[in-house]
Amino acid sequence: MKRLVVFISGRGSNMQAIVNACTSGVLNAKVVAVISDQPDAAGLAWASAQGLNARCVPRGDYASKTEHQAALLAAANDTNPDWILLAGFMRILSPAFIAGAVAPIVNIHPSRLPKYKGLDTHQRCLDAGDTVHGASVHIVTAELDDGPVIAQSCVEVLPQDDADSLAARVLKTEHPLYIFSIHKLLTDAVEYSDGHLIPGDLCEPLPLQFSEF
Ligand code: GAR
Repeated sequence: MKRLVVFISGRGSNMQAIVNACTSGVLNAKVVAVISDQPDAAGLAWASAQGLNARCVPRGDYASKTEHQAALLAAANDTNPDWILLAGFMRILSPAFIAGAVAPIVNIHPSRLPKYKGLDTHQRCLDAGDTVHGASVHIVTAELDDGPVIAQSCVEVLPQDDADSLAARVLKTEHPLYIFSIHKLLTDAVEYSDGHLIPGDLCEPLPLQFSEF
């Protein structure tokens, strides 16, 4: 059974979906740790209440970003993970973290990459007048929100949408999208070289599309 570490910063609804998919047997995997950089993250309390290994590694406990990232990396690597999953983790991982991780890192981002890397994706989508929006699950590389995309969701932008209503509809697609993507990663033949994912069919840009549920 594959070992998953999930990084969060807040609500943790994607993390909860991943935990539930593991406990219900939808994913043949186990969440071995939930790691937050925010002590008051709601998702951290939820994970603790489930009896999961839930840890906080706050930025304020470390003198520098470098030391903080080293502590985050040690917290993940110590659990011997097969995959490190970012689920609403709002810090940019340093190149040293990415190079030192013992497992590939996966992220969910609330836009259809390569559109709208970074923050405020829903408002930027509205400002641009897009008619379609969604979320992407991708492999994390040293470039922000830039790694190979595994799958994307697709949500229609409605005339009456504001950033909150759009975010809520995108979030509904994120949970099955993330589970689907993890399932692909766990079950497809994925090759590694020196610990790096070799992009194959699985990781070609935008091979899979999810419609709004
Ligand atoms: C999700 O919408 C996720 O895509 C986004 O934060 C939200 C977390 O929700 N992630 C990012 O913006 C990463 N840059 P959750 O805590 O309920 O899973």
